[in-house]
Amino acid sequence: MSQQTGTQPHQHYIAGEWTDGSGSETFASENPATGETLAEFQRGTADDVDAALEAAEEAFEDWRALSYIDRAEYLWDIYHELRERHQELGEIVSQECGKEISEGKADVTEAWHMVEWAAGNARHPHGDVVPSEVANKDAYMRRKPRGVIGCVTPWNFPVAIPFWHMAIALVEGNTVVWKPAEQTPWCGQIIAEMFEDSGIPEGVFNMIQGYGDAGAAITDDERVDTVLFTGSAEVGQEIASKVGGEPGKLAACEMGGKNGIIVTEEADLDIAVHSAIMSSFKTTGQRCVSSERLIVHEDVYDEFKERFVEIAEDIAVGDPLEEDTFMGPAIEAEHLEKIEKHNELARKEGADVLVDRFELDDDEIPDGHEDGHWVGPFAYEIEYDTDLRCLKEECFGPHVALLEYSGDIEDAVEIHNDTPYGLAGAIISEDYRQINYFRDRAEIGLAYANLPCIGAEVQLPFGGVKKSGNGYPSAREAIEAVTERTAWTMNNSKDIEMAQGLSADILTRDD
Ligand code: UN1
Repeated sequence: MSQQTGTQPHQHYIAGEWTDGSGSETFASENPATGETLAEFQRGTADDVDAALEAAEEAFEDWRALSYIDRAEYLWDIYHELRERHQELGEIVSQECGKEISEGKADVTEAWHMVEWAAGNARHPHGDVVPSEVANKDAYMRRKPRGVIGCVTPWNFPVAIPFWHMAIALVEGNTVVWKPAEQTPWCGQIIAEMFEDSGIPEGVFNMIQGYGDAGAAITDDERVDTVLFTGSAEVGQEIASKVGGEPGKLAACEMGGKNGIIVTEEADLDIAVHSAIMSSFKTTGQRCVSSERLIVHEDVYDEFKERFVEIAEDIAVGDPLEEDTFMGPAIEAEHLEKIEKHNELARKEGADVLVDRFELDDDEIPDGHEDGHWVGPFAYEIEYDTDLRCLKEECFGPHVALLEYSGDIEDAVEIHNDTPYGLAGAIISEDYRQINYFRDRAEIGLAYANLPCIGAEVQLPFGGVKKSGNGYPSAREAIEAVTERTAWTMNNSKDIEMAQGLSADILTRDD
């Protein structure tokens, strides 16, 4: 963190200046693997958000007047910095959100992929040339920036997801007010420093550190033209329904999932077990695309279960900075409580617990990390029943159900679709008919075959259906949320000729 020295709390970045803002409270970023405080930050208030929105509004006209390519130049600087500081930033991500180091670095890689996509897209066509019924008419679809974009991002991809939102919004000509997650303000600080270093004009990029009240002050404000939100379903639903009632304002939200993997009787079980372990336990189950349901055909159920359980019992939980760690800690103490409640709920609803490493043994906790928020895999089997809450409610942790099914792919997909969510899912099968049925009938936005249901690439649309969200706040789909389309039609003739055979004659009483 280069902006300050000493023990002063880190600041907000508003109108091209670092500022304490108007609040009197500060908050700490904590390393979830050790419980240590990493740094202190100012807690943003509604007044700070007001100042940031004013700056963003003021900067908009000059920013939109630049060419796409000139706007993208600022992002290219950031792209290079992300690449050059890969190892350092990956370690910071791991320290602040507890993801193991390959994931910490992948977060930074995903960020520069998105910046590359958005800045590269500045040189690509941004509209369509559309035919007209009338030979002398030219018709186009053109795009305009919407204005001020409010971005609220989660802690679990603290570098990548901010760039999903902001790289696109900025290249398209909008200005931005961003609130990073309160669990990962250090990553927020570094991103803001990168924008400062890029020389981006003042007011174009603004960052407010803080909690949900600051986020709500952004998303509720009428000066915000589009809200981009990635995070929990509760907050996302609230934003989507509020914004939906405000004419002219848009929200693109991506929320959680209760994601499932179907393992059919035609599955290659090596792929099945590998995919299920990755999807359930990578990031300690704290991805919105993590799987919490494994729907396995009766013919292969026993073998799958045995192999899955054997690995889950042995998964390496440990120091996120060590390369031989598979799972780091949970993000915070309250989240551990939430995971425990989900484990208890499953038990209460009749689960047969297969793996319970919720409380790790003392010797599994790395030295000097006793105050971390440690948790291990929890896996259970239960007979599928549509009324079971444990199969419907997202835990967002290393908590997964094994469900045995009999019958055909149609039966498996019916169970798969029986959740209020619809984000990600996978099928493991060597039978292309089963695979294609899943592709066409699974109610999800991200569907995989013979792969884990995590690890999407930035050039694909990222988002879900049902309770998992709307509007896809990433890559090319985010362009829809941060731009307005204009159907632009021009007449090249001196005469007016109308489509649909509509007469252009003006008739008077004398005719
Ligand atoms: C999230 O799950 O919160 O598809 C985001 C993935 C990552 C992004 C995940 N590229 O797993």
